[in-house]
Order: sequence, then C-alpha cells, then structure tokens
Amino acid sequence: MTGRLEGKIAVCTAAGQGIGRAVAEAFIAEGATVYASDLDAQKLTGLDHAGNAHLAALDVTDSAAVKAYLDGIETPDILFNCAGYVHHGTVLDCDEKAWDFSFELNVKAMHRTISALVPRMLEKGGGSIINMSSAASSIKAAPNRYVYMATKAAVVGLTRSVAIDFIKQGIRCNAICPGTIESPSLDGRIEEPRQDARRRGKGAGGFRRAPAHGPHRQGGRDRPSGGLSRLRRKRLHDGDDPADRRRLVALMVGSSRRRFSRARRE
Ligand SMILES: NC(=O)c1ccc[n+]([C@@H]2O[C@H](COP(=O)([O-])OP(=O)(O)OC[C@H]3O[C@@H](n4cnc5c(N)ncnc54)[C@H](O)[C@@H]3O)[C@@H](O)[C@H]2O)c1
Repeated sequence: MTGRLEGKIAVCTAAGQGIGRAVAEAFIAEGATVYASDLDAQKLTGLDHAGNAHLAALDVTDSAAVKAYLDGIETPDILFNCAGYVHHGTVLDCDEKAWDFSFELNVKAMHRTISALVPRMLEKGGGSIINMSSAASSIKAAPNRYVYMATKAAVVGLTRSVAIDFIKQGIRCNAICPGTIESPSLDGRIEEPRQDARRRGKGAGGFRRAPAHGPHRQGGRDRPSGGLSRLRRKRLHDGDDPADRRRLVALMVGSSRRRFSRARRE
C-alpha cells in the first residue's frame, strides 16, 4: 500500500464483515486512523492488529448512541456509511414494520451521522462522505427488492443533495452502487428464494438449475462466474497482481455480455 490516507481519520460503520470490513482494512492499510464500529462488536475482532483502529459497538439506528459515539471521537476526514439491510420481497411482502426498519437502517442512519459530522467537517475545512447505495436502486431494477431498492434510491438522492450543498465548502459526498458482492450475508440472500420455492413446493426458486450441456452448463464460459470456480475467482481477486484482477473482470464482464446478447436473440 502507498500510504494515501496517512494522517487521515476515517469513520466506518458496519465494519465487522463484508464490504464495511474490507473498506476499513483498506483504510487502515493506507495509513488512516479508523474508527470502526458495528452492531456486533465481536465481528470487529482483529481489525486493530494491522494498524491504527479504534473499535466499538454501535447500533446506527440508535440516535442517542450515535450522538454519544461521534461526540467522543476526533472529527473525521472520511465518513463511510456502510450499514444496510436487504429486505427480500415485493410490495406484497413488505408491511409497515419492514418498510420502517429498512428506512431506519439504510437511510435515516446516514442522516444521523451526516448531520452530526457536516458542521464539524466544515469547521475542519472539508471532508469526504461515502454512502453505501446499490446498483439495485435508482440505477437498475432487481426482483424482490421492493423496499431495499426504495431505500438505496433514497441514498442516491440524499447523497446528491449533500454533494451539491457542500461541495463548494470542501465536502465531497459520493455514493457507491455495487452489484452483487460476495459477503457473509449474501449466502443467506441466495438461500431465501430457494426456501420460498421449497415452501411453494417448486424447484429451485429464482435460480435456474444449470443444464449439464450447452452454453448454460455449470461452470461454462457464459456463467456469471466467467467459468471460474469460486476459489479461483477469490485467488485472482485477492492476489498481488493487478493484471489478475483485470483478467477476472474481463472474464466476468464478457460472460455477462454473452448472456445478455443471447437473451436478446432469444
Ligand atoms: N453484498 C452485496 O452484494 C451488496 C451489494 C450492494 C450494496 N451492498 C450494501 O453494502 C452494505 C454492506 O453489505 P455487505 O453484504 O457487505 O455486509 P453484510 O450484510 O454481510 O454485513 C452487514 C454488517 O452490518 C452490521 N449491522 C447490521 N445492522 C447494523 C446496525 N443497526 N448498526 C450497525 N451495524 C449493523 C452487521 O453486524 C454486519 O457486520 C449494505 O449497506 C448493503 O446494502 C451490498
């Protein structure tokens, strides 16, 4: 790593696993002092071994706890709002409780941290706010992501608003909109449609079983995996050689394009 964040202070929510953890680790590796928090403090174990990290339990849906936590730390240069929850289902599966919970965690939690830290960042002369949205938002549609997409689209709007209001005073505000990323919660989300299908007495739910032959065959070039095993993909992704990562992206993008073109032809 190149020390690009040497001397910077970063706040990272939901840093216990998945994208939040990867970002916190990258910030630490780049030399930042990281205030890493998670609802489940145990998941943060090990983060401070690599460098300068302050670990804490924090439920971002608890206004009083968020205020007390932020009051007790240095003013950050970077705020990464990562905490979020994926509700599975259509409008028909989303009661008011589910709607409120998703907005509370995915959107209002960002309002809490941003409204508390923008005045301090202004005093400091600027900062960078990064909000976790998703490709499934105002960017593109995904089935069974009714309230999730509504929240992540709200994150895009919230981000644009903060960006335009404060860019001239040195605060940048951006949202990240990833597609599917392997994380501990992803396996659970993959399992959900299968369980739905089992409950309905059908086969593999939202997932087609790959035929043994033909372009859709398991592990074939046209699978989203680019024909590589999960382990092979991880090795290419985690390795030291940037060329490997470029190869991986090219393979996966290529396979998506081929599937898309074929779907259009069909
Ligand atoms: N994984 C993906 O495919 C994907 C794609 C696009 C966007 N995202 C977004 O990225 C973020 C992280 O997702 P992930 O899949 O990498 O991680 P994950 O879902 O595996 O982990 C989420 C973390 O958030 C913590 N958390 C849950 N409730 C919290 C709360 N109230 N306060 C503080 N922390 C809390 C959990 O303890 C856990 O450590 C989410 O906002 C998610 O919507 C994920």
